[in-house]
Amino acid sequence: MKTVRVGMLGFGTVGEGTYRMVRDNAESIGRRTGACVEFVRIGVRDLDKPRSAEASLFTKDLMDIADDDSIDVVLELIGGEHPAVEVVERCLNKGKHVVTANKELIAKHGSRLISLAKANHLDLHFEAAVGGGIPVVQALKHQLAGNDVIKLLGILNGTTNHILTQMAEQGRSFEDALREAQEAGYAEADPTNDVDGFDTMYKSAVLAAIVFGKQIPLEDVHREGIRSVTTEDLRFADVLGYAVKLLGVVEQTGDDRVLVRVHPALVPKSHQLASVKGVYNAVWVHGDFVGDLMFSGRGAGADPTASAVVGDLVDVLRNIVAGGQGSAIPYGTGAVVSSIDDLQTRYYLRLEVMDRPGTLGQITTEFGLEGVGLASMEMRPKPGGLGEIVLLTHTCREGDFRASLAKITALPVVSKLESWMRVEG
Ligand code: NAP
Ligand code: HSE
Repeated sequence: MKTVRVGMLGFGTVGEGTYRMVRDNAESIGRRTGACVEFVRIGVRDLDKPRSAEASLFTKDLMDIADDDSIDVVLELIGGEHPAVEVVERCLNKGKHVVTANKELIAKHGSRLISLAKANHLDLHFEAAVGGGIPVVQALKHQLAGNDVIKLLGILNGTTNHILTQMAEQGRSFEDALREAQEAGYAEADPTNDVDGFDTMYKSAVLAAIVFGKQIPLEDVHREGIRSVTTEDLRFADVLGYAVKLLGVVEQTGDDRVLVRVHPALVPKSHQLASVKGVYNAVWVHGDFVGDLMFSGRGAGADPTASAVVGDLVDVLRNIVAGGQGSAIPYGTGAVVSSIDDLQTRYYLRLEVMDRPGTLGQITTEFGLEGVGLASMEMRPKPGGLGEIVLLTHTCREGDFRASLAKITALPVVSKLESWMRVEG
């Protein structure tokens, strides 16, 4: 049995889970790979925290791990852009295979780092960066690689899916549900990353890069979070037959262009994604030959994420035992990203209006002038001579919807734009 020496950066939720899984499943991992894993160094920030591994393993010097010539593989589980990018680059330059759970790192530097791994005949794997325990990265890189992926819809953030599920089904407040997600170890170090859609943006960009073979400039990704989603919207969506989900959407828009967008959306209850609840994530893919398929599983937390990290480690162990050359699959840069204005979809809109004759007519006229057709429209009275309008449009161009919305909200009969969301699926 070959001994493979492993250095780990980070011993938080994912690092500790990975260490535990490698220790608990050492016998079966050895049987399947012909390798025995020896943890030799673990990098952390705080040496005084109590840890569930031998104290002598821990160091604060991450570069020392990158420079240790006796280490074969490094697991990067600290998160964030810096110092992760510098340490991973050093590891690859020093001949170490790397496994990472860091979506920000891959979304921002994937093209360069994967090319570096390839040039040095090393592995750089990142299954845990997207979808926690769901093996979707490997599936897209390998088994589905013969397909042209036309569209991909993902519920890619466990924290926000937990929050939206708790708000919709238990009437919990946003703050309570977020606190629960933090306590369960789902949330990022800064939960803004989850709530404002950055985490889903990184994951969507990583999936888009695999599918389209080019890194996506993050400034071209349309991003919205879930802060503006209210319990009223969740209730109206439910009555209309929809669930509200934070989606990462990746789609081909023609002329070798892609559109990558992150936003809350109404998903019909009949769609598979609508029943993905709590910390579960899912990725729905439409490929030109495979048709529709969906992957789902727990998208965050120590154990499912460890499963993805250890799956990648097993791949590296097999490669080392076989004397292989690494299996990094590089992609380039220069993706051309379409504007959200050109998106064609349906829209949900909720307005507070003056409840008087002619109000509905003025609103439908403005939509009609921009070529936006209405699929349904309902008005309910509110106290004080006001009314609440909830409507769904037919499929239209986003630029046209936004233009009509600007005119409608300027009408004297419209007192407040409560909310609007896209409809997907
Ligand atoms: P975490 O619980 O906050 O743990 C981070 C670990 O990294 C801690 O051990 C911390 O040290 C160490 N660390 C951070 N910055 C460091 C630095 N500059 N120098 C040395 N050590 C440093 O984070 P996590 O939830 O495990 O997430 C780790 C990675 O996995 C991130 O990329 C995250 O996005 C990704 N991920 C997380 C999940 C999840 O469910 N949590 C799921 C999928 C992917 P101390 O212990 O001393 O503070
Ligand atoms: N904060 C992330 C989530 C962790 O909630 O999905 C998994 O990447």
